[in-house]
Amino acid sequence: MPLFKEMLKSGESIFRDTIVLDYDYQPKVVPYRENEQMRFATAVRPLLQGNNGRNLFVYGPPGIGKTTACKHVLRELEEESGETLPIYINCWKENTTFKIFYKMCEELGFKFLQAKRTNELFALIKGSLNKKPVVFVFDELDKLEDTDFLYSILEDIYRKSIIVLTNYRDYYSELDERIRSRLSPEFLFFRPYNEHEIAGILANRKEYAFVSGCWDDDAFKEIVEKCSESRDLRIGLYLMREAGNIAEEKSSRIISAEHVAEAMKKVDDFYIKPKDGLDEEMRQILTLVKENAGKKIGEIYAVYSEYGGEMSYKSFQRRILKLQEGKFISTEKVSGKEGNTTIVNLSNEKKLTEF
Ligand SMILES: Nc1ncnc2c1ncn2[C@@H]1O[C@H](COP(=O)(O)OP(=O)(O)OP(=O)(O)O)[C@@H](O)[C@H]1O
Ligand SMILES: [Mg+2]
Repeated sequence: MPLFKEMLKSGESIFRDTIVLDYDYQPKVVPYRENEQMRFATAVRPLLQGNNGRNLFVYGPPGIGKTTACKHVLRELEEESGETLPIYINCWKENTTFKIFYKMCEELGFKFLQAKRTNELFALIKGSLNKKPVVFVFDELDKLEDTDFLYSILEDIYRKSIIVLTNYRDYYSELDERIRSRLSPEFLFFRPYNEHEIAGILANRKEYAFVSGCWDDDAFKEIVEKCSESRDLRIGLYLMREAGNIAEEKSSRIISAEHVAEAMKKVDDFYIKPKDGLDEEMRQILTLVKENAGKKIGEIYAVYSEYGGEMSYKSFQRRILKLQEGKFISTEKVSGKEGNTTIVNLSNEKKLTEF
């Protein structure tokens, strides 16, 4: 019996390149989103012809290629038109007008910004952009704490397209009336991928991420099915990586259905969004929740204060709510003897599929 044939030798790996399994990996082509990319291009095109661009409000559920398709178009734009400047901002990370202007100034190459105030930063941006055509992308728009910057840009920057991305169509009506009337965007809905498309995307990643022949066909099929149920590609990418890790831990050269089943159990404590989108403070709170999963929000706040955290309970609650909205964690309201309280947990699969 070829007892050792399916076992990895030491130093051997079934992974070829794990970078392609990262959530923020930017693939060279973005298939199945040709129409959407055309809509981006059409909105931006007037800019290249010396006119003002159009604005887009892009929405759709998580993990279906909104950011990826948009970034792809920005990259092509940079390659084809040296003149037009793309500015990409993740509003989860840069969630206030001040932070957004600060980041833009950095990207425009300004230094020594520490002492500058919001309006001074904007004056720098305005001066620097002058009449240059700019494509602004504001991703994760619903995570903003204020939207004043949008008003300033709409009023004071001349040649531009503004593209905003969010999970929620309804967020539009929450925008200030003055912003809405100036933005007057076209709406672009991203539909979830179907199973065939998910299979195609995951198979492509599989090819680059793993050495050939290490996947059992049925095991891979199960991942495609699971991913199609949740409709979120990050689930598929996560499961492929985890199943690979589990197989490797067991020195197996083949990733089997068993390894996939084990990986599925772990889906519970993975974070659905790339953590890159979180600032330092949010990451700390996330770590705290991870270490104290299942406890009441007040108890976690107590630990936070004990470690020297200085934020008020109200602000802390707000941050927890934001993490929950981003599906990093889940919360559950329970009523007990002492009134209502909230239990904080890591994101779980049920939550993911409920979306
Ligand atoms: N058409 C595609 N081809 C290849 N990879 C894709 C495609 N669409 C999405 N992906 C991959 O799926 C993952 C999630 O995509 P993306 O980050 O663009 O989702 P999103 O729609 O912006 O989600 P969210 O609303 O949560 O920000 C990424 O790793 C991305 O590379
Ligand atoms: Mg995104």
